[in-house]
Amino acid sequence: MRMRNKYRKPTTLLGYAGSRCSVSVVVWSLVGCLLLLHLYSLVHQKDGEGGVLQMRMNHHPLFRELEEVEEENIQIPPPRGKRSPRAAKRRPKRTTTLIDEFLDESSQLRHIFFPDQKTAVDPMKDAGNDSFCYFPGRIWLDTDGNPIQAHGGGILYDERSSTYYWYGEYKDGPTYHAHKKGAARVDIIGVGCYSSKDLWTWKNEGIVLAAEEEDETHDLHKSNVLERPKVIYNEETHKYVMWMHIDDTNYTKASVGVAVSDSPTGPFNYLYSKRPHGFDSRDMAIFKDDDGVAYLIYSSEDNSELHIGPLTQDYLDVTRVMRRILVGEHREAPALFKYQGTYYMITSGCTGWAPNEALAHAAESILGPWETMGNPCIGGNKVFRLTTFFAQSTFVLPLSGLSGSFIFMADRWNPADLRDSRYVWLPLTVGGAADQPLEYNFGFPLWSRVSIYWHKRWRLPYRWSEKK
Ligand SMILES: *[C@@H]1O[C@H](CO)[C@@H](O)[C@H](O)[C@H]1NC(C)=O
Ligand SMILES: *[C@@H]1O[C@H](CO)[C@@H](O)[C@H](O)[C@H]1NC(C)=O
Repeated sequence: MRMRNKYRKPTTLLGYAGSRCSVSVVVWSLVGCLLLLHLYSLVHQKDGEGGVLQMRMNHHPLFRELEEVEEENIQIPPPRGKRSPRAAKRRPKRTTTLIDEFLDESSQLRHIFFPDQKTAVDPMKDAGNDSFCYFPGRIWLDTDGNPIQAHGGGILYDERSSTYYWYGEYKDGPTYHAHKKGAARVDIIGVGCYSSKDLWTWKNEGIVLAAEEEDETHDLHKSNVLERPKVIYNEETHKYVMWMHIDDTNYTKASVGVAVSDSPTGPFNYLYSKRPHGFDSRDMAIFKDDDGVAYLIYSSEDNSELHIGPLTQDYLDVTRVMRRILVGEHREAPALFKYQGTYYMITSGCTGWAPNEALAHAAESILGPWETMGNPCIGGNKVFRLTTFFAQSTFVLPLSGLSGSFIFMADRWNPADLRDSRYVWLPLTVGGAADQPLEYNFGFPLWSRVSIYWHKRWRLPYRWSEKK
């Protein structure tokens, strides 16, 4: 609903209001009416096709218990004589002690951030009360009993097979530094794919796009970088199209790669890489809108801004249309979603493998302008909220049965051993007024708040997929 835009007009009317009393009375009553209408539009939102009125702030009641604020009280142990050399070099500030503990491989708190194998989530074992529970940060096993390898991933819901497919970086190899100044890396192995009906039990479908072992000039040569693969389905060509960040060891290639398959489980046929619209492109994502138009969004100009533009109808290339958004804000790891006609996005800051503060953004039109609302994280403690729960956004999954409810998917990177990076999945809801809006119209916030709730242990509501 575009009611909100209409309120910009009275601002100019107010300029005349002082000159003549009768005009001013008319104008003010008009403003009053509009304010009432505005309030109404905040509370009631017209449902796009059906024309059904529903509460704007009201997402599914089944999700409500997940919106309880859960605090974390972690005692930081007194400093010890010995820290790992890497942690010692950084000279932590007092306020970032918990972050420093997180980055310190030999921290006494290591088990909090990277719980060991004993606590692994194993869907094949009778988990009793913990069945279907997500434990952000714990090792998560697939149906073969191996840790899931789908980092920087995204999920495709395949309507034809009523199955979720989770694609991500398969990083089950040694972490090393290509040279002294190089970031920690794992050679390309490929894109892992896992399938599930319940979003908890994941079957390994294998590597659906594999590294190139021999040809050093190939984009997928193992010495290169393949990050953040995302797959969408094209209704017209009936193809599954994968987009990914393609780079060289030193991140100078800064390109996107495209691959295509007839089946969600591959094998994907790698087509090419390019710099979209002629610009450097690092962290990226793909978003498919309700009308079937898909968009590429990527960090560009050395990660200082994001670019967004529609793909061609077959999803195999970008078009010439591109908009610069969040210019100068230095954001990466974009994760887009849509709710009641408004576009939302979660991004992270740019601090390499170290966690930082997430921000939520919103836009009426996907091409912008985009506005920054603030930090969506709720619960945990201050450091949890300032580090996106020690993780970085990668995807936001809509839950088809639960309107306004989403799963926020993030990566808790372990730069010392990247294959052991963990997944942080948390409930995300849209509703209520944003608490740090940049723009107000007559005192009314323009955007709904995006909230990501911390939970040590949580699960989706019972039989959530059947609730429509
Ligand atoms: C499951 O939860 C119930 C009720 O909260 C509790 O009584 C029971 O001991 C729990 N069972 C296990 C295996 O944890
Ligand atoms: C990456 O950078 C390092 C150091 O600047 C250099 O020695 C190396 O040759 C570069 N590698 C590639 C593949 O460009």
